[in-house]
Amino acid sequence: MPSAATADEVLAAYADKVDELKTRGGYTAADVIDVRPDTPGLDAMLARFSSEHWHDEDEVRFIVEGRGLFHISPPGGPVFAIEVEAGDLIRVPRGTHHWFDLCADRRIRAIRLFEQPSGWTPHYTESGVDRNFQPVCFGGSYFPREDLRSPA
Ligand SMILES: [Fe+2]
Repeated sequence: MPSAATADEVLAAYADKVDELKTRGGYTAADVIDVRPDTPGLDAMLARFSSEHWHDEDEVRFIVEGRGLFHISPPGGPVFAIEVEAGDLIRVPRGTHHWFDLCADRRIRAIRLFEQPSGWTPHYTESGVDRNFQPVCFGGSYFPREDLRSPA
């Protein structure tokens, strides 16, 4: 998917998959979020994303471009991180405490799916737990190729 594609072109390119996810997950709407290093108000936006919060509905993202890091904080712990990149689909179930950071290139483009777009308001926990975890993105090159792994 070229960077120059419009949001409508992105949604059209993935229409079959989006429709399938809507049917399976009960989502009613989809849009495209496009975050770049020069996005106006980026630091304020990232500060909202990177504070621990939860939603009244699932947070569903299909990553089209760029990468990012979700931290998930289940009840009783432990906190774990999931790095997402183009081609990844993530669903953070409703009520799950989490936060999100961009990686160093500060770039992500993703299809978002909603049950009710108006209901997707973050509820901040104000726990401060997010400040205990440095967002570290490894990138795909961190993982050795299958044929370079030593036999078990
Ligand atoms: Fe969220």
